[in-house]
Amino acid sequence: MNGSEYLRLGVNIDHVATVRNARGGNVPDPIRAAKLAEDAGADGITAHLREDRRHMVDADIDALMASLSVPLNFEMAATDEMQKIALKYKPHAVCIVPERREERTTEGGLEVAREENKLAHFIAPLADAGCRVSIFIAADQRQIEAAARIGAAVVELHTGAYCDAHAEGRFDERDAELERLRQMSKFADSLGLEVHAGHGLTYDTVEPVAAFPEVKELNIGHFLIGEAIFVGLEEAINGMRERMQAARS
Ligand code: PXP
Repeated sequence: MNGSEYLRLGVNIDHVATVRNARGGNVPDPIRAAKLAEDAGADGITAHLREDRRHMVDADIDALMASLSVPLNFEMAATDEMQKIALKYKPHAVCIVPERREERTTEGGLEVAREENKLAHFIAPLADAGCRVSIFIAADQRQIEAAARIGAAVVELHTGAYCDAHAEGRFDERDAELERLRQMSKFADSLGLEVHAGHGLTYDTVEPVAAFPEVKELNIGHFLIGEAIFVGLEEAINGMRERMQAARS
């Protein structure tokens, strides 16, 4: 497999911290999960430091930066507090996501088109510090154009609507969402943006997205951590990797 065909897997370890925080204390340790994921062949680790610190906490980011050998993709909201933290650590990648306190997970993509000036100013120092700036958006042409205009290097397309439609048996909608993801991956690539995708992906939904040649990285968390309860993290990651490779070849 040559470099242009290779599809990277970023493993999101947030929900190891969710389980830890359910009891307080130190177990299970998300850093141990990150090292295991690394050993199992993850190409990167993704961690979202939310404003309310409901899963990852500041000390986790500190420990990840100190101990990882693969790149860290630091997910964060566009706030001054998070910008300061990102500029302190200068992770390989910063992925800007929308955040609402009342949501259970990152429910939608970022509204870039409406906040273009503000976001352009927000990401400039991050890019200047050497972080690859990624913007998490819906597969929507307006948002992709805006992400390109503000100078993002990467767009991560939100696969949640596609995965939800699949899980709920709304197969016409699922297929329409998949087609939208396919077209918008091509469109973003044509603007020179690197294309990533993620949210809600499982063994059942990963292959059609992994098959898009423009997609260079998938970020997957909740399903892998859940599956790890039954088979262990290494086997869960291997199972995902096999499906990604099968889709790609
Ligand atoms: N990508 C982004 C930008 C996300 O916010 C998340 C969820 O934190 C994911 C990928 C991973 O989603 P999931 O945990 O559903 O696999």
